Amino acid sequence: MTLFPMSSSGYYLFHCFFLLITFTNCLAKTSFQPKTLFLLVKKDPSSLQYITQIHQRTPLAPLKLALHLGGECLWVDCEKGYKSSTYKQALCNSNQCNLARSTTCGNCYENNTRPGCNNNACYNVVSNPAMDNTAISDEGEIAEDVLSIRSINGSIRGPVATVPSFVFSCATSTLTQNLGKKVKGMVGFGQQSPVSFATQFASIFRFSRQFAICLSSSTERKGVIFIGHSPYFFSLAFDASQDLIYTPIITHPRYITITYPHYVRIKRDSPEYYIQVSSVRINGKKLPLNKTLLSLDENEEGGTRISTAVPYTELEGSIYSVVSKAFINEMPKEVKMVRPVQPFKTCFNSTYIGMSRLGYNAPEINLVFHKPNVYWTIIGANSLVRVSDGVICLAFVERSKASGQAIVIGGYQMQDNLVEFDLSRGRIGFSNSLFFRQTMCSNHNYA
Ligand SMILES: *[C@@H]1O[C@H](CO)[C@@H](O)[C@H](O)[C@H]1NC(C)=O
Ligand SMILES: *[C@@H]1O[C@H](CO)[C@@H](O)[C@H](O)[C@H]1NC(C)=O
Ligand SMILES: *[C@@H]1O[C@H](CO)[C@@H](O)[C@H](O)[C@H]1NC(C)=O
Repeated sequence: MTLFPMSSSGYYLFHCFFLLITFTNCLAKTSFQPKTLFLLVKKDPSSLQYITQIHQRTPLAPLKLALHLGGECLWVDCEKGYKSSTYKQALCNSNQCNLARSTTCGNCYENNTRPGCNNNACYNVVSNPAMDNTAISDEGEIAEDVLSIRSINGSIRGPVATVPSFVFSCATSTLTQNLGKKVKGMVGFGQQSPVSFATQFASIFRFSRQFAICLSSSTERKGVIFIGHSPYFFSLAFDASQDLIYTPIITHPRYITITYPHYVRIKRDSPEYYIQVSSVRINGKKLPLNKTLLSLDENEEGGTRISTAVPYTELEGSIYSVVSKAFINEMPKEVKMVRPVQPFKTCFNSTYIGMSRLGYNAPEINLVFHKPNVYWTIIGANSLVRVSDGVICLAFVERSKASGQAIVIGGYQMQDNLVEFDLSRGRIGFSNSLFFRQTMCSNHNYA
């Protein structure tokens, strides 16, 4: 995006904004105070992205968006077909620019202004991690518009909650590549950002900063994202928040460049979710992994990140080799290996792989977190994937880039587990597979 920088004229905008929530008219359209909101989420079979739907604009329009755990904000494609009578761009130097972590400010280079291209508007950095295996980023115009989302009342769905001025970023169509058909943007749940999806609702409705994702393994039946307080009910009134084991969220500083009002590099905490995986066990045996790689270093390399944009957990090369070898060793001797099927490197003939209520019979994998007695168990349903008739592969992939995290926990491993992001207490909770509880992420009464 080409921008013409402006002089810093002091605009002051009296806006109904979520930090000024004491002005009760900010909640005018919502007469109740929900404690928990939810989104339904479905895996797109071709892009393998997790897709949700929100309603935005005036009149309200349904909008398909991909999930981005480490994204700083909600961004949508404004280049094609954004129509709304309530769209308001954030003016340079306004509070919204500040909260949405504006990096620049300027005028529209196109002849006619439109949502996403206005004069005297501020911009922030938006990214799509699904593009070309690197996080491609662009700048989007910071804006506000009406947004509505469903609430939860007990274990069933409650009324729709409508927010008149939800802050988001208006990006270009280029950024929607690899997101799946008709997907118009991404919903960012990143930590540290005041405008990330769950944090913004937490400020508006004054509930605690927490959300939990439960991704369905089915491409037909939808999983759920809870935003706000537990309980997080599944079928038979089972509250999955009772089963969580917690590990601290690691925050990490990152340098970013601001070009307006002055060119400056500043340190800001990364929105990504890092945790400490200290070791990996397969069938109880600790694997000999490189400890240095397992900790996040000062350049934001190594360590473990959680990402919903990665379909299968990625492992750095040396870690992949050790995990794969140990997994093969622990498979029954009659299970034969077959030629790998991309993107996987470890595949088996399925003939002698049995099944139980926990999915495929497979060696149990433990990711041991910050303490030896705090670990997450990955069962066969999350460690093996059927790729064709007769072929089942280890559902982990080798990291293709030379650098990055040693472990990126991806969508497949989180399916049918509840993963809670408790930002107010700086921790992430993992349930084990809901299969242990005879339920699954699509087994809820919110649809
Ligand atoms: C903008 O307006 C100028 C002058 O009227 C015209 O030459 C140019 O083609 C227009 N650009 C676009 C993108 O419409
Ligand atoms: C929640 O459900 C209860 C019982 O079904 C009902 O009485 C109440 O009005 C509901 N609350 C809202 C906000 O809809
Ligand atoms: C462990 O990984 C680090 C970082 O990549 C590397 O410098 C070091 O040589 C590795 N150690 C061993 C024993 O392989």
